[in-house]
Amino acid sequence: MRVVIAGGHGKIALLLERLLAAQGDQAVALIRNPAHVAEVRQAGAEAVVCDLEAAAADDVAVLLDGADAVVFAAGAGPGSGAPRKDTVDRAASVLMADAAGQAGVRRFVQVSSMGAGQPPRPGSDAVWAAYIAAKTAAEDDLRGRDLDWTILRPGGLTDAPGTGRIRLTAPPAPAGRVPRADVAAVIAALLDEPETRHLTLELVSGDSPVAVAVGSLLTGA
Ligand SMILES: NC(=O)c1ccc[n+]([C@@H]2O[C@H](COP(=O)([O-])OP(=O)(O)OC[C@H]3O[C@@H](n4cnc5c(N)ncnc54)[C@H](OP(=O)(O)O)[C@@H]3O)[C@@H](O)[C@H]2O)c1
Repeated sequence: MRVVIAGGHGKIALLLERLLAAQGDQAVALIRNPAHVAEVRQAGAEAVVCDLEAAAADDVAVLLDGADAVVFAAGAGPGSGAPRKDTVDRAASVLMADAAGQAGVRRFVQVSSMGAGQPPRPGSDAVWAAYIAAKTAAEDDLRGRDLDWTILRPGGLTDAPGTGRIRLTAPPAPAGRVPRADVAAVIAALLDEPETRHLTLELVSGDSPVAVAVGSLLTGA
């Protein structure tokens, strides 16, 4: 499988690239900073420099030629203000979905966030509100498309080692945290299971092995 990862130098993305490489899949990392090429290659991915706040969908579609799936794992990140929540967390996802449609790449896994899909709590910080609005708009855009999308909303991310044990359910899930390594493992499992298309899923640490949690989405167990 050839998987193009938007935000390919992100923390989740680098973990995912290592997993994909280990299982013999090809990962292509879209990165904005040429200085990150070596690190991405060390993770086992091809590196393509592409600033998702500057690129046109036609240009990104060319990069998706021959791909089997797109993962949107970009984000404006901590320290960014409201405008970049819109240009990255919303608009770059829309750009990738436009490009996927043009290139005929149907499978699209979007990393969103718990909290999306509902208004921020009254009194929330303005940047958090902009982040949640951007994630919600990106999700809504994707749901309106003829793509095999899966929306994954992790809880609070940690850099703790993965446990391989998760809780993966339709919303609403109880608030919680989850290691980025487990998020990467869930993305890899979702890519291997296209029948998870058209699901919106919330992810926190839990008791179920990743394969069991993903499998039970299909059986309804
Ligand atoms: N933090 C949390 O607790 C939490 C919870 C739930 C969901 N999430 C979401 O999970 C996702 C991944 O998280 P993470 O921790 O892996 O994020 P991360 O390490 O901040 O990675 C995001 C990546 O997006 C890239 N990016 C930003 N602007 C770009 C642009 N214009 N063109 C190309 N790439 C661009 C960044 O590039 P640079 O490396 O060049 O900056 C970075 O590598 C994000 O969407 C985040 O919002 C976060």
